[in-house]
Amino acid sequence: MTFYDRLIFEISTKDRIGYHYQKKDYPETKLPEVLKRQIDLDLPEVSEFDVVRHYTNVSQKNFGVETGFYPLGSCTMKYNPKINDELATLPGFANIHPLQPEKTAQGILRVYYETQDMLAKISGLKAYSLNPFAGAHGELAGLMIIKAYHEKNKDSKRNLIIVPDSAHGTNPASATVCGFDTVEIKSNPDGTVNIEALKAVLSDEIAGLMLTNPNTAGVFEKDIKEVSRLVHEAGGLLYYDGANLNALLGKAKPGDMGFDITHINLHKTFSTPHGGGGPGSGPVGVCEKLVEFLPNPIIDYQDGKYFFRNSKDSIGALGGFYGNASVYLRAYVYLLTFGKEHIGDIGPLAVLNANYIKDSLKDLFELPIDGHCMHEFVFDGLKDQSTGVKTLDIAKRLLDYGVHAPTIYFPLIFSQSMMIEPTEVESKETLDNFIKVMRTVAQEAIENPELVKTAPHTTLVRRLDEVKAARNPIVKFKDIK
Ligand SMILES: Cc1ncc(COP(=O)(O)O)c(C=O)c1O
Repeated sequence: MTFYDRLIFEISTKDRIGYHYQKKDYPETKLPEVLKRQIDLDLPEVSEFDVVRHYTNVSQKNFGVETGFYPLGSCTMKYNPKINDELATLPGFANIHPLQPEKTAQGILRVYYETQDMLAKISGLKAYSLNPFAGAHGELAGLMIIKAYHEKNKDSKRNLIIVPDSAHGTNPASATVCGFDTVEIKSNPDGTVNIEALKAVLSDEIAGLMLTNPNTAGVFEKDIKEVSRLVHEAGGLLYYDGANLNALLGKAKPGDMGFDITHINLHKTFSTPHGGGGPGSGPVGVCEKLVEFLPNPIIDYQDGKYFFRNSKDSIGALGGFYGNASVYLRAYVYLLTFGKEHIGDIGPLAVLNANYIKDSLKDLFELPIDGHCMHEFVFDGLKDQSTGVKTLDIAKRLLDYGVHAPTIYFPLIFSQSMMIEPTEVESKETLDNFIKVMRTVAQEAIENPELVKTAPHTTLVRRLDEVKAARNPIVKFKDIK
């Protein structure tokens, strides 16, 4: 560990100053007493160079999509064109005040309007709102719309949301936050909806069904039309968790499959890296009969002007302003770059890459769902588990080879899940290197299991006590003993 790898408080030296502001003849402003700080701020005292070196060093210890291959299934970390970052931060966009009058913000409103329109076309729905700040926030918005719709129809006993056991955890969580009860149904062995299990729970209390397609095991829901017919016949609505839309872009539309509501993770599919708690955007889209329930304000266009309007049936505002502009700006540029002519090139490449890795490794790793996968697939640990090496050990060992771990222990339908999603942007050389590394680790697991069980060996932070880290996180420097 170098001097600058240490915590910023550890390199602090009393009375050292980073930067001197020059005294200028600014007019004096009187601060009200209540706003004045009563005690000194406890900040590290460091020089400007110390700060720069410390953060540069620490940033280099981190693993990111820009340092290595990142096959994190479901949480897709793609390369995202740098030019989109640059365009999203153009001063004309970056310096807009969120409360600026709409006549002075026509540019960003046009981006908003056109992005929602392109998303509607891509997903076969009528209208979108870019207000939600994450996928799960989009889910909450969609569920609030389901609730508002049934209430408007005086059908408020519909309080159950059906969720398959292969669903992403946010689905039942969002339903619960929205005040619904969830009914879990067992999936088929490949994670698709079990039609008999679905029929068994349908009743006049069902508000809707939430589904991801392709599902979390990377399998396309082939019975989707039947699922949609059954749920609609029972009076429920169909919610599409669009986190896996990558695979279908430009090829198939949730609206055509019978979905009434969707959310799309712009920070997965459309040019903003996902994960790490970075900024996100989870636009919510609806079919024609639900348009007036979308969050307020709704952004509309008439007579050459973009403007806000409020709908009286709306579920209300979801945030202070109009969503995460820097994320939908990137999505806008990304969508225009591909255009409708090329948007359909993304899915087939993502699917090809996933199938290439799956077929190159299935002799060494347990493949619970054999056959053609979509943009991601799941291994259920090593085929040879005689030495006791588990999925967690493999994930840690990959770090020693400069590869980020896949998503592990999800979906929950397999005990040693490793969910791998290479995305469409990786070269064949990168995929081949990953295959080579995975084969090496599988061999080590047999010949030298301790090496794998004690990995990682080359990272700054070695294996953590994950339970302790989750239950007792130390988030303040002063708490470190
Ligand atoms: C299938 C699925 N649904 C929903 C979400 C929730 O999205 P977010 O993390 O933006 O809230 C994710 C996140 O990765 C996901 O993979």
